[in-house]
Amino acid sequence: MMTPSDVKATLSFSDGSASMDLPLYKGTIGPDVIDIRKLYAQTGKFTYDPGFLSTASCNSTITYIDGDKGELLYRGYPIEQLAVNCDFLDTCHLLLYGDLPNADQRTDFHGRVTNHTMVNEQMQFFLRGFRRDAHPMAILTGLVGALSAFYHDSTDINNPEHRDIAAIRLIAKMPTLVAMAYKYTVGQPYMYPQNDLSYAGNFMRMMFATPCEDYKVNPVIERALDRIFILHADHEQNASTSTVRLCGSSGTNPFAAIAAGVACLWGPSHGGANEACLNMLGDIQKMGGVAKVGEFMNQVKDKNSGVKLMGFGHRVYKNYDPRAKLMRETCHEVLGELGLQNDPLFKLAMELEKIALEDDYFVARKLYPNVDFYSGIVQRAIGIPVPLFTAIFALARTVGWIAQLNEMIGDPEYKIGRPRQLFVGAGRRDVPPLSAR
Ligand code: SDX
Repeated sequence: MMTPSDVKATLSFSDGSASMDLPLYKGTIGPDVIDIRKLYAQTGKFTYDPGFLSTASCNSTITYIDGDKGELLYRGYPIEQLAVNCDFLDTCHLLLYGDLPNADQRTDFHGRVTNHTMVNEQMQFFLRGFRRDAHPMAILTGLVGALSAFYHDSTDINNPEHRDIAAIRLIAKMPTLVAMAYKYTVGQPYMYPQNDLSYAGNFMRMMFATPCEDYKVNPVIERALDRIFILHADHEQNASTSTVRLCGSSGTNPFAAIAAGVACLWGPSHGGANEACLNMLGDIQKMGGVAKVGEFMNQVKDKNSGVKLMGFGHRVYKNYDPRAKLMRETCHEVLGELGLQNDPLFKLAMELEKIALEDDYFVARKLYPNVDFYSGIVQRAIGIPVPLFTAIFALARTVGWIAQLNEMIGDPEYKIGRPRQLFVGAGRRDVPPLSAR
């Protein structure tokens, strides 16, 4: 709920141009906003904020982050409590509909998702166009976009029921598509969903089973994977969610908008950081492991090196990312279950974290581990190949993307997103004849 504040902001100009009052709005928690919607009409001036460091693009009821406290709330519930007391599908219900399901709602929601896990048989032929060594995110971007070809006619985004079934289809089908992308790259047959398994268990079977033998879901890994999905489910107006909102604001179908989110998440500054982080740990290991951490850190601190400590830093968190703490605990559990307590990369990661948290360069810049720092280690231990890490992130983030998209489309005030610019190029000039160019 946006509540008008009784505080006003007054904008005045030193050249005597007309000043203007700007209304402020308060949210439930977090920073107030200055409403600048009438600024251009009244002053002929834009605001300038290329990385959206100080810009609220929308009002939302879904996720709240306090970067200074290192707090993350999904619909008001702390991530630490959800990760321990709920499962991923409960969290999906919470993000989509605003509250945790009761027993009947839980049974109904789990049933609806389970009954939409298969994809059209034609989808398998779409994969054949890719090389077997194609990056899974390239495949997934294509597959998610291709879903719109199967539901384009049945998706009137202005119809709340259509928006809801599109959300269920996307949540249900992402594990199937990610597993298909993986199976295609390893040349194994696709495994169909199995409805008597949990969401995470079904994904594990589609990933690791073959038609040649029965597959037994390891409950510790199943729980760890489900928690990984919860931790990645939503995160306010991050780059990929903002991409989905902007793409969806044109009225395109939800499958196309989510495909845009998948493409954005792939970047190493965003969801691609988990893959980049594991590759970084591997490189340090090859350099000599813990003994070479100091040398690596010197590269990171040298601006000209272009080397970043992947899995560290965050636009919003200027304290420890609460998801990183939970991911580290999950790491301990999974490595213990698999007898990999002495995993060298996990030991290296913990040493790297210790050194970074004591180093002035990182302390001064408030750089802490983020969600991507430990997620790669636990996924590798589970047997997920490094190039698939970001696809797993996309699988989990799909519910956040679609919840945020549906929130925007459901807001009668929403408009197509159309930012402006500060133009610094050539002013008007005439085209010279070829002989004069
Ligand atoms: C995700 O937005 C979200 O919510 C994203 C996410 C989600 O759930 O959706 O949380 C998921 O994307 C997590 C972030 C994953 N990315 C990485 O781990 C890649 C490494 N991190 C950096 O690229 C960086 O920290 C960003 C991109 C995450 C944030 O960049 P900002 O906010 O633009 O910060 P910045 O680049 O302005 O950094 C401030 C300073 C700079 O130094 P100075 O110019 O002040 O001297 O800190 C330095 C940066 O050079 N810095 C780093 C660093 N991150 C920032 N230096 C070394 N290693 C790093 N990782």
